[in-house]
Amino acid sequence: MEAIREAVKEIGALDVILLALSCYIIWKLVISRLFAKPAPEEPRIPELPPMRRHDMTVEELREYDGVQREDGRICMAVDGKIFDVTKGKRMYGKDGPYGIFAGRDASRGLATFVASAEAIRDTYDDLSGLTPSELEGMREWAAQFSEKYPIVGRLLKPGDIPEIYSDEEEDKTGSVSGSMTASSISSIGSEDKDDKKED
Ligand code: HEM
Repeated sequence: MEAIREAVKEIGALDVILLALSCYIIWKLVISRLFAKPAPEEPRIPELPPMRRHDMTVEELREYDGVQREDGRICMAVDGKIFDVTKGKRMYGKDGPYGIFAGRDASRGLATFVASAEAIRDTYDDLSGLTPSELEGMREWAAQFSEKYPIVGRLLKPGDIPEIYSDEEEDKTGSVSGSMTASSISSIGSEDKDDKKED
């Protein structure tokens, strides 16, 4: 004990404090990490095979809410295009912040920046009442989604005939099986826009 006291006197109190601090930092940074239990891994959502393209009515789309179907597939329509947003389950799943859009036409909600039931229609929404800038905002969302999620069809308005999509067409263009080609994507929604202009 006496020897320690002598040593402390020689080294100086400040040095002892610095030494203790260094030991603590080394413990925190190195040693405690070596013995730390690994953080539990987030359960991985198994990736689904690409969806077969097909146009849907609002009612048909509703099935793809991530709950009703066994495969948990989630689709969402924006600007007349149907996106497979299953990989965004964290956001569009049942308890996700944007779960309200799952299996629905999210156009009005995104246009008006309202992520609640008041922006969702049970029947086909012709988007009447939206301002040109809201419509523009909605198209920007759709453009953003096109970069991230596959387009798997178009949203049918009452009286619309579903298009027949061939697998050969996909193979020729080398696009991902089951999702749509760039040319078919650009044609979706353009008729709707023209319709709106005529209105
Ligand atoms: C205070 C309000 C809000 C905040 C702080 C917020 C924040 C965020 C953040 C951080 C993300 C990225 C999540 C991620 O990639 O992990 C996100 C995504 C998103 N937000 Fe919001 N948000 C807000 C309001 C809204 C509203 C009102 C809407 C629409 C009505 C909206 C629609 C979306 C959508 C659709 C996505 C997902 C985009 C995707 O699939 O990549 N947000 N938000």
